[in-house]
Formats: sequence, structure tokens, C-alpha cells
Amino acid sequence: MKYSIKIGIIGGSGLDDADILQDVSLKTVTTPFGPPSDVLKEGTISGIKCVLLARHGRKHNITPTQVNYRANIWALKEAGCTHILASSACGSLKENIVPGDIVIPDSFIDLTRHRDLTFYNNNEPTPTKVVHIPMEPAFCGETRKVLYESAKELGIKCHEKGTSVVIEGPRFSTLAESNVFRCWGAHLVNMTLVPEVTLAKELGLCYANIAMATDYDCWHESSAAVNVEQVIKIFSENVEKVTKIIIHSIEVIASKNWDDIIDKLNDVIESSIQSKT
Ligand code: ADE
Repeated sequence: MKYSIKIGIIGGSGLDDADILQDVSLKTVTTPFGPPSDVLKEGTISGIKCVLLARHGRKHNITPTQVNYRANIWALKEAGCTHILASSACGSLKENIVPGDIVIPDSFIDLTRHRDLTFYNNNEPTPTKVVHIPMEPAFCGETRKVLYESAKELGIKCHEKGTSVVIEGPRFSTLAESNVFRCWGAHLVNMTLVPEVTLAKELGLCYANIAMATDYDCWHESSAAVNVEQVIKIFSENVEKVTKIIIHSIEVIASKNWDDIIDKLNDVIESSIQSKT
């Protein structure tokens, strides 16, 4: 195998300081974009090299807007990661996605407004190129499949795909906004999927997300409108599902040859360069 597999795990709300690694060492790193959200927790799961990073910091003190997404993704790439499995809490926009359910998103609608969206800004200490990366498929199909099949094998209810609207936050949506997202046919609403997934694609990483629906946002007539207390309660009641899927998926990922998939991701980047200045 050309690439040796190492898996980055981005823990979102409710999985900020997960205790799932063995042989742990903490590494403080920085990047050309500044420091990531917290230390990199290097270690192994079933003997496979992994790196855990808390998206909002281990003490959950970084807002969705303040997360240094570029530093997080850059740091994981620099640490040698080939894959990223990210977890996040989401609002459900569909009756059949019940709070506590897991969804493996396959697309997104980006409504974020105050974030650095690319490594290729042409004025950074990093690649001075103009690059337009195609966003279909947004996520790594093979990694998504591993997550879904793992959930199935573990007997955990899981929706194979879904589109997430990504809002700027930190506020939740109004009823009018929530109804618009539902009209668009979206399945989930969340605050962090973008630009995490897009930046991972810019660096040729196999990225997939395990989304847990924690609430019905504010559109559901028989549910109270979302609040933080509810998000934390539902996530902590169901967090074991996410960790089980992650651990099982890591074993499956390590057993596969990813050379062709990673080569293809790198080809996409190479063919997306419009100018080399
Ligand atoms: N995270 C969890 N629930 C959410 C919601 N309803 N909207 C945005 N982000 C969320």
C-alpha cells in the first residue's frame, strides 16, 4: 500500500474530550493559519494510529464561528492523517429522523457567512494558487459507506444519507428559516459541517461525518423549540452509538487499500488549479 492509514477524529458537541484512544500523548501544534482548537491527542484504537481533536476545544469554549477550521484540518493533515471522521450534533428537519438517530450526510447547503473557506486565498503563507474544487461528491463516498455499514452491523439505526443546511450560528434558526430549509428538502441543520468538509477536500483527505439528530429544530408542532440543554441531553444519552460506530469503522478503514481513492482526491486538486502564481 502506498499510503499508510492514520485517522483523524474531530469530536463535536458532546464528544469534546472522548476517552477512546490507547497509548495517548498530547501534542501542542500550530499551523500557518494559527493554532487548532486544542492539543492533538495522538494514540491508537485497536492498534491503528489515530488523532483526536476537539472541534470546540476540550472545554467547549470556542463558538462555531470562532473555530479555526483551517488550522484544524491543516494540523490533522500535517499529523499524517489520511482520513477524518467527524461527529456533530444536528437539528432534524424531517419527521422520520428522530432525535437520537444517526445520519451520514452526503451533501450540504452552505449558509455560513463569517468563515475562512479556503486554503487557496492567494495571499497566504501556503499555496499561492487559485483553486476551484468541485464539491460533488462533497464527502468521501467510501468512508461514508464504511460508517453506514458499521452502524448496520452494530444494529444502530442510521440514515444512509442526508443534506445538512449549515448556518452561521451561534443562534438557532427562526421558524421561518426552519420552514424554508424544509421546503428546500434538507434533512438536517447544523453549525460546523462547513467549511470542515470543504477544507478536507482541498487537502485530499477522506472526510465523512457522523451526524446525530438531537432535536427537531423549531418546526415540529409537538416538540418544544430546540435549546442547548436538549441538545446536550440527547447527545449524551446517545453518544455511545457514535463512539461504537467510530471504533468499528476505524478497524474496517485500516483493513482496506485506499490508494486509488486518495490518488483520485489528489488528482481532483491538481486539475482544479486555475493559475500558479
Ligand atoms: N445543533 C444541534 N441542533 C441544532 C439545530 N437545531 N440547529 C443548528 N445546529 C444544531
